[in-house]
Amino acid sequence: MSTARIIPHDPKATSELWASAPTGEKPAKVGTTRIFYNIPPKQLTALSSLGDGFEKKTGTAKREVVRKAVGSAVKAVKAIDGVKDVKIDASLDPHAAAVAAHLAQYSFTLKTSPTPSRFDPNLKEPIPEKFTLSPEQSSEEWDRGVVYAESQNVARTLMELPANIVTPTAFTERVKSAFAGIDNVEIFVRDEAWAEEKGMRTFLSVTHGTAEPAKLLEIHYKGAPSKDDAPVAFVGKGITFDSGGISLKPSAAMKLMRGDMGGAASVVAATLAIAKLKLPVNLITITPLTENLPGPSATKPGDIICAMNGKTVEVDNTDAEGRLVLADAIYYASSEYKPHTLIDVATLTGAMDIALGDLYSGVFTTSDKLWDQLRVAGETEFDRFWRMPLDEDYGPQIYSSNADLCNTGGRPAGSCTAALFLKAFVEGIDGDEPSLKWAHIDIAGTMEVTRPTPYLEKGMTGRSVRGLIEYVRNLQ
Ligand code: BES
Ligand code: MN
Ligand code: ZN
Repeated sequence: MSTARIIPHDPKATSELWASAPTGEKPAKVGTTRIFYNIPPKQLTALSSLGDGFEKKTGTAKREVVRKAVGSAVKAVKAIDGVKDVKIDASLDPHAAAVAAHLAQYSFTLKTSPTPSRFDPNLKEPIPEKFTLSPEQSSEEWDRGVVYAESQNVARTLMELPANIVTPTAFTERVKSAFAGIDNVEIFVRDEAWAEEKGMRTFLSVTHGTAEPAKLLEIHYKGAPSKDDAPVAFVGKGITFDSGGISLKPSAAMKLMRGDMGGAASVVAATLAIAKLKLPVNLITITPLTENLPGPSATKPGDIICAMNGKTVEVDNTDAEGRLVLADAIYYASSEYKPHTLIDVATLTGAMDIALGDLYSGVFTTSDKLWDQLRVAGETEFDRFWRMPLDEDYGPQIYSSNADLCNTGGRPAGSCTAALFLKAFVEGIDGDEPSLKWAHIDIAGTMEVTRPTPYLEKGMTGRSVRGLIEYVRNLQ
C-alpha cells in the first residue's frame, strides 16, 4: 500500500464508492474523509467531502473549501503507515490544492523517535518528508502553489525552532542556505559595529541585555525589467527571543516569544518565494535581529534614546522593544532605498491578539490603494487582513513624555498607538503627497494557532507569507 489517491468529493454527486460507506442523514461536512483500501490497481483512495452546496460556491469561498477538503485528506493519509506517494486530484483548483496539501503535510517535531527529526539542526543530509505529494495532472498553478506553501513552511520552522537554535546569527545562516543558488539575489549580514556607524541607537538599545550578537539582514532581489526601478521594501521584526527585558514578562507562555521573529521570518520567506517565482519586481527586505533580555547593561525604563532619524524616544517599558528595532530599520529602509511601497510585518502587540485573535492580521496604512491590494491578496490566499485605524488623534498617548515619543501608549488601543509610533520613522510618509505607500501588519494574533485547522497543525502558522507573495504577484 505505498500509493494513495486523494479525491475531493461533492457529496451530491453519485459515487458508488462514497455510497458504499455507511452514511448519516446529512451530507458529510467539508473535509470528512473516507478511506478505501485496495481499490484497483491496488491503492488506497481517500475521498474527502466538499460539503453541502459546493456547486453554488464561487471565488474565495470555493477555494477555501478545496483547501479544507484537500488538507483534511492529507492529514488523514499522514496517519496511515507505509504511504510513500500521494496523488491528488487537484483539478478543482490546482493552486489551492497544492497549498493545502503542503501545509497539511508539515508537522514540526524535535523528537528523535520513532524516526529521526527532519528539523534536527545538526543534520548532515536533509531528511525528506515521509511521502511525496503530486497532482494527477501537472500544471503551473500547482507548481506555484507548492512554492507558496513551502515558503510558508520555512517561516513556520524558523518560528517554531527554539531561541537557543535560532539565534540572530543562526537565522542569517539559515537564510543564506535557503537562498543558495537563487538568481538575482544579494544578501548582506550587518553587525553591531555597522549599526553603530549608521546611528541605529533604538535598535541597538534592545541588544544591550544579551551576549548574543545582534544582526541586521538585508536581502536585495532584482527582478524588475530595470535594476533602477523603485523597489518594494519589506521590513520584519526579528526578536529571536523576547523576555521583555528589564520589564520582564510573566513566565507563563513566555516560550511563545521564541516566535517573536515571526515578522522577519514572514518577510524573508515571502522574499524567497518571490525570487523563486522570478516575479518582475525589485525588492529590498530588511530584518533587525536580536534577543531582548535583561542584563547588567540592559536598557532601563525611563532611558531616552536618540533614533537614527534624530527623534528622541523614551523607553517607558523595555517590553515594547519591537517598535524600537523597527524604528531604525524602517527609517533606514525608507531613506536609503526610496521604495514606492514599504510594508513592515511584526508580532508587535498583545493587544492585536485581543482585538482580532488568530483569524485576521491587522493592517495599518495611510493608503486606501495599498489596503485594497493587501485585502484582495489576503482574501485570495485566505491569509486574511483587517484594516485598523492609523489616526493622529491617538498621538497624545505617545507624545506626552520628556522625549519626542514614548514607546508605550498605555493599554487603550495598544496596537493603534504602536502603529502610530512606527509612522514617525517612515521617511517620506508626511504631507499631502507622500513619496511612498506604507503599511504595518501586526501578526501578534495570527502567529500561532492553539487548535489545529483543516490544513494547519497547532503551532506557529507563518501567516502573512502567502498574502505578501500574492500582493507582489498582483503588482504587475
Ligand atoms: N512581542 C510582544 C507582543 C506579543 C505578545 C506578540 C503576545 C505575540 C503574543 C511585544 O514585544 C510586546 O511585548 N508588546 C507589549 C507592548 C506594551 C509593553 C506596550 C504588549 O503587547 O504587551
Ligand atoms: Mn516585548
Ligand atoms: Zn516582542
